[in-house]
Amino acid sequence: MELKLKIILLLLLSLTTILFICATVRAGEEVEYLRPPPRKAFRLPWDPKPSSQPQQVHISLAGDKHIRVSWVTTDKSSPSIVEYGTSTGKYSYKAQGESTKYSYVLYRSGMIHHTVIGPLQDNTVYFYRCGGEDPEFQFKTPPSKFPVTFAVAGDLGQTGWTKSTLDHIDQCKYDVHLLPGDLSYADYIQHRWDTFGQLVQPLASARPWMVTQGNHEKEYIPFVVDEFISYNSRWKMPFEESGSTSNLYYSFDVAGVHTIMLGSYTDYDDYSDQYRWLKADLQKVDRKKTPWLVVLFHVPWYNSNEAHQGEADDMMTSMEPLLYAAGADIVFAGHVHAYERTRRVYNGKPDPCGAVHITIGDGGNKEGLARKYKLPQPEWSVFREASFGHGELAIINSTHASWSWHRNDDDEPVRSDQVSITSLIDSGCSSIRVMN
Ligand SMILES: [Fe+2]
Repeated sequence: MELKLKIILLLLLSLTTILFICATVRAGEEVEYLRPPPRKAFRLPWDPKPSSQPQQVHISLAGDKHIRVSWVTTDKSSPSIVEYGTSTGKYSYKAQGESTKYSYVLYRSGMIHHTVIGPLQDNTVYFYRCGGEDPEFQFKTPPSKFPVTFAVAGDLGQTGWTKSTLDHIDQCKYDVHLLPGDLSYADYIQHRWDTFGQLVQPLASARPWMVTQGNHEKEYIPFVVDEFISYNSRWKMPFEESGSTSNLYYSFDVAGVHTIMLGSYTDYDDYSDQYRWLKADLQKVDRKKTPWLVVLFHVPWYNSNEAHQGEADDMMTSMEPLLYAAGADIVFAGHVHAYERTRRVYNGKPDPCGAVHITIGDGGNKEGLARKYKLPQPEWSVFREASFGHGELAIINSTHASWSWHRNDDDEPVRSDQVSITSLIDSGCSSIRVMN
């Protein structure tokens, strides 16, 4: 009996030793990051509001020193006024805007208000309320000079991962959010636009959100509903302020950065309105005033993921020469649910006068990650990873910027890619225009 007990004890000891050795060896290995599955829709608690109370409040830049405040009320007679000032509860200024609404099969939107306020001081906190109703919100205007920081995340949706991404963006000190398409993933179910508006309100009411459209914004029903009707009604961007005739493409200046938002789902050939507008907009860029040139659109031109291969080839053929000739520094895209960064590239090859292309369609939507990459990795591709996350572009001065990508690692933002980017302003690339 005693011998049996000794044998069992010996076996247990051996097993424990083997397990310990295995665990030690594994800890020393480079353990590959285990990519998480999609998460379920993020549900906000039911919070019924009086019909005139502002909901889904978000702000966007609207020309020099101006901001557009957008919100929704159930009450159709609620006024489109914004009261604002630099002290809480004291509204020294008031502006009147406009409102719109739309129908989508059986859905009827609330009243969607858009009111431009300003002129505003730079880098200043303003307190405001909409439609003459509480609650009070506050935002900070961007600085007029460097440094300036952008938060970047596309393909957001409204899942648990989206919430995680938004929480991480909220922790970073940024001035403007850039979103390269695919916002709500409403996908024809219109009330999801309302829940998305509620989800992003804490961030989008506090910093300008500058967005462009993705395929999930189309929501086209032939002969019944026009393309982009929900997106254009709710997310009005400064297209008129930038000489564009369409909400689907526009540009704006922040500090010393000229940012162009293009439409992957509107005409882009050489004879299109968008092409003509882009050419004219690029001709106006003065690199002395805005040394950095940043461009966003939805479908990536440089993408070594197996997802969405070749979808933007025609747009790239048409528009890449324009961006190259103008010396675009950085191009952000979404669509592919993963992260990828290139070296400076043009016409399919590394080129010191081309743009750095960054795919950042990893906000956390319900469709999950695009995990498969093409092999071998193309020579223009520097870093690629299929994980959810967000990016931060800190533009330090006229020549230097710091870009970092933060993976949502078990809900912690882990800086997983970082690079310094030098603008083309002092590069000697012949195309840069500096006007006097
Ligand atoms: Fe997309």
